[in-house]
Amino acid sequence: MMPKLILLAAAASQALDVSTLSPASPPAESIRFLFIVVTAAAAFILAIVWGVLFYSLLKFRRPRLLKDGLPTTEPPQVYGSLPIEVAWTVAPGLIVFLLTLVIVRTEFQVHVREQQQPESAKILNVTVIGHQWWWEYVIERDGQRKPGVVTANELHIPASTAEQPRPIYLNLRSADVCHSFWIPRLAGKTDLIPGRNKNEMWFATRETGLYVGQCAEYCGTQHAHMLLRVYVESEAEFQAWLANETKPAVDDPSVRNGKQIFLTESCVKCHTIRGTPAQGAFGPNLTHLAARETFAGCMIPLTRDNLRKWIRDPQEIKVGCLMPAFGLSEQKIDWITDYLMSLK
Ligand code: CUA
Repeated sequence: MMPKLILLAAAASQALDVSTLSPASPPAESIRFLFIVVTAAAAFILAIVWGVLFYSLLKFRRPRLLKDGLPTTEPPQVYGSLPIEVAWTVAPGLIVFLLTLVIVRTEFQVHVREQQQPESAKILNVTVIGHQWWWEYVIERDGQRKPGVVTANELHIPASTAEQPRPIYLNLRSADVCHSFWIPRLAGKTDLIPGRNKNEMWFATRETGLYVGQCAEYCGTQHAHMLLRVYVESEAEFQAWLANETKPAVDDPSVRNGKQIFLTESCVKCHTIRGTPAQGAFGPNLTHLAARETFAGCMIPLTRDNLRKWIRDPQEIKVGCLMPAFGLSEQKIDWITDYLMSLK
């Protein structure tokens, strides 16, 4: 009963525009352009084929008379006609050639790194690592390759302005199986393939706001709940977010019971909370968990109540997820929840 309610809330929070037909970034615009060109070409061909078909149906619906006066239902035979053979070989060839040109142009716009980026562009590099069933981001701090900011599921990026283009370059990797990163309004799908670290994509947008998407490659039981949220913010908002993410976790003495339990239970084997001995790398980094709006692969709105249910038994909410229930007492669950909710 309760997990269903949580799901509904998550679904409502994802009820944003995810149409490839309302692009907000150059790669997504290229893809829409390609879609329109291909659809228009197909519609044009369909109109010609149906036109000829209906014309023939109407024109030749009665038997015609042969020279000797006998009726026949067969049309005049044109087998071996050179002009017709040439026409229906050249025309499709030309159509395919023109479509190929448009597709190659789109490929360059979508995949080539420096495409249309002015010299002044300030590039943000992010490594995206797909996990069953959540996303990990390693964000390069401006001008410094390391150490990057590590966060999960919700990515914040700066908006471009007329003076300062801010393209985002993603390097896509996988920790387990194939996933696919897809925010329809920002760019097309690109796969995250285990063992292959070369897959890249880019986007840039001037429109601030929340963009949602999801894993677009079947990756196991909870593939459908491997959701994506990208927050496009003004440069100042983004820098403030990044500065907070860069800090070690807040250390609030009023939740020290929870911290103590977190550090002595199995939590530390999978999760990192920077500034504490918790250095697990298997699950999402929780250093600033409470600064996020959702958790569990953007599936669940982050509220104390939802988080508490999750800690008590993740399997009841997200069957098959890799976090087990630890059978903690209700008191301990309360304390851990309070501790995690303090990690702004
Ligand atoms: Cu990850 Cu589907």
